[in-house]
Amino acid sequence: MVKKIKLGILGGGGDSLIGVLHRVASFINDDYEIIGGVFNPVWEENIGFAKEIGLPTNRIYKDFDTLVHEELKLPENERIQVVSILTPNFLHFPMAKKLIDSGFHVICEKPMTTTFDEAKTLESALKKSKTIFALTHTYTGYPMVRQMREMIKSGTLGKIHKIDVQYYQGWINKLIHDSEKRKTTWRLDPEKSGASCCVADIGVHAFNLIEFTTGLEVKSILADFNYLYSDNKMDIDATMLVRISEHVKGIVRSSQIATGEENNLAISIYGDKGGLKWEQENPNYLYILSDDKPMQVYKPGHAYNSDLSLDGTKLPPGHPEGIFDSMSNIYKGVARAVRGQKYNSGEFPTMKDGVRGMSFIEKSIESNSKGNIWVELKN
Ligand SMILES: NC(=O)c1ccc[n+]([C@@H]2O[C@H](COP(=O)([O-])OP(=O)(O)OC[C@H]3O[C@@H](n4cnc5c(N)ncnc54)[C@H](O)[C@@H]3O)[C@@H](O)[C@H]2O)c1
Repeated sequence: MVKKIKLGILGGGGDSLIGVLHRVASFINDDYEIIGGVFNPVWEENIGFAKEIGLPTNRIYKDFDTLVHEELKLPENERIQVVSILTPNFLHFPMAKKLIDSGFHVICEKPMTTTFDEAKTLESALKKSKTIFALTHTYTGYPMVRQMREMIKSGTLGKIHKIDVQYYQGWINKLIHDSEKRKTTWRLDPEKSGASCCVADIGVHAFNLIEFTTGLEVKSILADFNYLYSDNKMDIDATMLVRISEHVKGIVRSSQIATGEENNLAISIYGDKGGLKWEQENPNYLYILSDDKPMQVYKPGHAYNSDLSLDGTKLPPGHPEGIFDSMSNIYKGVARAVRGQKYNSGEFPTMKDGVRGMSFIEKSIESNSKGNIWVELKN
């Protein structure tokens, strides 16, 4: 019998947005069992939540340092193997660094850190260790996004020349127009979020999708942010022109004040032989555009899809799978890596994606603050 991987969770308590997505995703493919963690910095809420979801309480720790200290005392075969970091952004770096240095595998929420320097430090730490690191750019786990990547790799679009990614939400409208209400989200607090709100929260997902699907690296960007109020220091709307090369160009449009929008992430990629379009709110359709043929629609689970895409579906075609399944595909890839099994590099985003993402965030801020100038991204 295959042994389940012992999973620990940091953050993701009952009051959180992302906790349930990771917990369910970790169970979907029967690879993991949740052993313990720290769900919340307040002990009563932490232990209360563990009881509420039916976990044994003996490995619910009072804080992160205690988790590492106590787990390292256990024999290796009893220890938590993988730790998921689901806390607000400012805790990702200190937690991931200590976990990597202590030999734990890490699944980390985006943005990977709050600065590019922290990202590079984490990258060096990982190079010295034997641990697996995955970054949960959730949308890369969708079968039709994986299909896009494989079709582009095999030349379906010919030479890519135009990329357009949009990530529009409207939820900050409810907070931003009231300077008191604004204080109720950590995403608008630079101490907790890092120097960016919109780009770090959602723009970076859009950026990651460009590099994930095309396999191309964005070389330079020009950013224009909106803050709405002079006493709000955090971007809540940001547009970035992106240049991959002289003749491959595109745009990242991100906003949290797009009134009425929910989670409207959409990517279109055009080449000299065709185009591909995908929308997160309708994730089971991939549109293939052509100058001389009617539009085609690909759907998950059919044999015409690539192996990477098919690996991401569990049910026969016509049984819609969604974001829980998408995240579960990332967990499945990590499980293979942890077990030393073969896996496709498209199964989960890595440290490299984290470093690229942090460069994108920092350089967007730099471009905007210097008067919307072109800046080069770093590796
Ligand atoms: N991949 C995605 O699509 C996606 C979507 C949403 C959020 N996120 C990321 O997930 C992270 C969390 O976002 P969220 O919306 O769930 O935040 P949230 O504020 O809803 O939840 C944060 C959780 O972390 C806990 N926490 C805070 N400090 C802690 C500490 N010191 N130790 C242990 N737990 C602590 C809180 O109690 C809470 O349960 C962020 O980095 C965010 O960018 C990613």
